[in-house]
Amino acid sequence: MQSLDEVVLDKKTVILRIDVNAPYDPEKNRIQRTDRFDGHGRTIRELLQRNAKVVLLAHQGRQGRDDFTRLEQHAQILSEVVGRDIDFVSDVAGDEAKRKILGLQPGKALLLDNVRLLDDETELVTPEEHASSNIVKELAPLADMFVNDAFSVSHRSHASVVGFTAVLPSYAGRIMLDEINSTQKAMRADRKNVLVVGGNKIDDVEAVIAYVLDTNPTAIEYVVTGGIIANAFLAAKGHELGERNRATIEESADNAIARAETILNKDTGKIIVPVDLAVKQYDRQELTVDALPTEHPIWDIGDKTGQLYCHYVSQADAVIVKGPLGRYEAEGFAKGTEHVLDCIRQADVFSMLGGGNTRYTALHEMDFSQDDFSHVSLAGGAFIAFLAGEELPGLAALDTTD
Ligand code: 3PG
Repeated sequence: MQSLDEVVLDKKTVILRIDVNAPYDPEKNRIQRTDRFDGHGRTIRELLQRNAKVVLLAHQGRQGRDDFTRLEQHAQILSEVVGRDIDFVSDVAGDEAKRKILGLQPGKALLLDNVRLLDDETELVTPEEHASSNIVKELAPLADMFVNDAFSVSHRSHASVVGFTAVLPSYAGRIMLDEINSTQKAMRADRKNVLVVGGNKIDDVEAVIAYVLDTNPTAIEYVVTGGIIANAFLAAKGHELGERNRATIEESADNAIARAETILNKDTGKIIVPVDLAVKQYDRQELTVDALPTEHPIWDIGDKTGQLYCHYVSQADAVIVKGPLGRYEAEGFAKGTEHVLDCIRQADVFSMLGGGNTRYTALHEMDFSQDDFSHVSLAGGAFIAFLAGEELPGLAALDTTD
């Protein structure tokens, strides 16, 4: 992949794909300002300082869903973040968009409207096929180059992500390279890497665990588990969790326990499960796994498990955290997640947080900041796909190695 270091930007028209897809409140018509704006803000600022004419492409939500909206507020937020006016153009690839691009001055940026307004944007076809999509056909002739800074949408083979690479010199943006380099560093085969997984998205976690057990066994030494995924492993190991907890696991994904059992059959000691748990019985109550079953809902790892996990992460060279270890939003049940994150903060390890919820939880609902970790990923689905060893079309399209 070629980076922005290798290119002259002065007076060049650059199409920059960013991802500022954000939570949207349709009742208040309000877009939430997230870290994604700040992240891409850095890349935009650099391009402007280097005197490029910057044409920003982005999406918000999906057609048919209530988070699907125009990008006017995104332009306002980006202007605040970058500290310069970023014009919003309420058109994507029509005459208005083209007129504005042709009139753009060096050192200025504009944001076109939601690329998903175009029906052929989300067709899952190759970069070459997307070269004849609306957006690429109309905008590429006006530009000198394409930069993809949107790692977090690069698991989508969409026109604005892959199409320009077939017809324009293409580069990886700063956020894109940071994301790739950090994830690769955290999974380097010659080091002791620990993956901390939690949350309730069993399907995602299962794909990642399958990859680090089967396909890339040297990437991760231990997989430390919390949340519903840990409960599924405990059940698969034969612990009776109680009817209520078993039902919660089964509701979270089809055949969750049977699938956890299949994973455990391949496990060579990598998967670490809790030795004690915290249940909601009036307030937080701890019990060891030997004291199971319980009629009360399991909402966190217990204190002994917190200490055990602290030991694993402190001994590691690198730690990747994906998902909270308990039901952190309930009073008293953030303890396990906070304890482990605090150990990571204090340990001398390369640390990485990923997955939309994990980032938001740690940085906005708990007392952690970006500086407490070596890298905080801005990606959700793309981060999981990358960890699970999938080829990301947006990255493959930038790859110039063959
Ligand atoms: C994200 O928010 O994870 C990305 O912008 C991708 O969004 P999508 O899942 O709607 O493609």
